[in-house]
Amino acid sequence: MKRLQDKVILITGAGGGIGSACVERFIDEGAIVVAADLMLASVEKLANRLGDRVIPVQVDIGDEQLFKSVIDGAVARLGRLDVLFNNAALTDPTTQYMDTTATDIPLELWRRTLEVNVTGTFMGCRFAIPHMLKQGKGNIINTASIGANAGDSVRVAYCTSKIAIVGLTKNIATQYGKKGIRCNAIAPGPIVTENFHKVAPELGPMLLRHALTPELGTPDDIGALAAYLAADESRFMTGQCLTIDGGIGAHHPHTADFDDYLAGLA
Ligand SMILES: NC(=O)c1ccc[n+]([C@@H]2O[C@H](COP(=O)([O-])OP(=O)(O)OC[C@H]3O[C@@H](n4cnc5c(N)ncnc54)[C@H](O)[C@@H]3O)[C@@H](O)[C@H]2O)c1
Repeated sequence: MKRLQDKVILITGAGGGIGSACVERFIDEGAIVVAADLMLASVEKLANRLGDRVIPVQVDIGDEQLFKSVIDGAVARLGRLDVLFNNAALTDPTTQYMDTTATDIPLELWRRTLEVNVTGTFMGCRFAIPHMLKQGKGNIINTASIGANAGDSVRVAYCTSKIAIVGLTKNIATQYGKKGIRCNAIAPGPIVTENFHKVAPELGPMLLRHALTPELGTPDDIGALAAYLAADESRFMTGQCLTIDGGIGAHHPHTADFDDYLAGLA
């Protein structure tokens, strides 16, 4: 039997770079996937490619009523919700460019980032948990970032939102663990998607210099971790934020410079 056989998984941001790779992995492992995204066409395309175990739906995680109706609708149609994967966030390049520093970011963008990323993720949990409590079992995966692990020169709103998601994850795990609900977060480092190239292609080599691996991450790397968290074999893991970043955060910040220095001495 496959690891995720017949598990019902709802994933937001399913049409994006990481989301679509996760949907594909979940399907490969036997799941039924409700693929939710702001851009309906992106998830319809995915369903056309992967077959009728992918159910495409439109959602805006910043729209409370719509998000609730998508979660309730999935349970009404499929009978249960085994895993909620809150993967969507504001990632479009325009937003990323305007998300700068505490004094420079437009206040409207700060508010919108927290509303979509934090409150949107929170709403997913809030609407999924009652169904999971009825089932006596449930599993939530949230999406943080290495932006939650340390400060950055820009993206004050995005990074703050991701830190809040780690806090939310630990609180959900604490409040509902004894009732059979697990909650973990994934904190990806640089994962090469279409948007990653659009935001600043020149960032790739710079970030790779600070990774301990020969290559940057791919969406499939996140798919592999998400499948593990979605499966029952991770049953003893909850309240954790799992960093998957090629070791970028695992060494002294000066390591790359120090390596250059040592090479110069040789
Ligand atoms: N790619 C990376 O390097 C990286 C690194 C760290 C964290 N992450 C996180 O991983 C997740 C996925 O990122 P990605 O790289 O695949 O981005 P992406 O831009 O490729 O995909 C994001 C998807 O989310 C959808 N979306 C945006 N706003 C939405 C909303 N309000 N409601 C529903 N869907 C919405 C978009 O339509 C898109 O399909 C995000 O939470 C992101 O912050 C990505």
